[in-house]
Amino acid sequence: MKKIGLTAGLLLGAMSLAQASDELAKSKNCMTCHSVERKIVGPSYKDIAAKRAADKGAVAALAGKIKAGSKGEWGAVPMLANAVSDAEAETLAKWVLSFK
Ligand code: HEC
Repeated sequence: MKKIGLTAGLLLGAMSLAQASDELAKSKNCMTCHSVERKIVGPSYKDIAAKRAADKGAVAALAGKIKAGSKGEWGAVPMLANAVSDAEAETLAKWVLSFK
């Protein structure tokens, strides 16, 4: 019984973290240009995660780009700087990388 409770608790914890990041991405307008599954204006989060999966510095690199913007990685359209704190950028970078 104890074990079941613990597993359920862990699952809930993981779910609420994903949920919180999802809300953060929505509130920061990331979803106007991105979706998890398909390209909109920017690449899908799955494509980004797949491209960066092997890169150990991916969280820091992507967090930096989420904050400052990015160009020339995926095509002609650049991403402008986003109004996020360093902590929010890091949370979002980890979340994007979780879709691999
Ligand atoms: C106005 C549209 C737009 C918005 C808003 C936007 N992005 Fe982007 N994003 C893009 C485009 C376009 C690219 C591809 C840029 C490039 O080719 O370097 C991109 C690239 C990225 C990348 C990949 C960078 C790389 O080096 O591979 C990540 C991660 C990302 N966006 C996350 C986010 C997050 C998180 C937010 C919200 C805080 C956000 N984006 C908001 C358009 C947008």
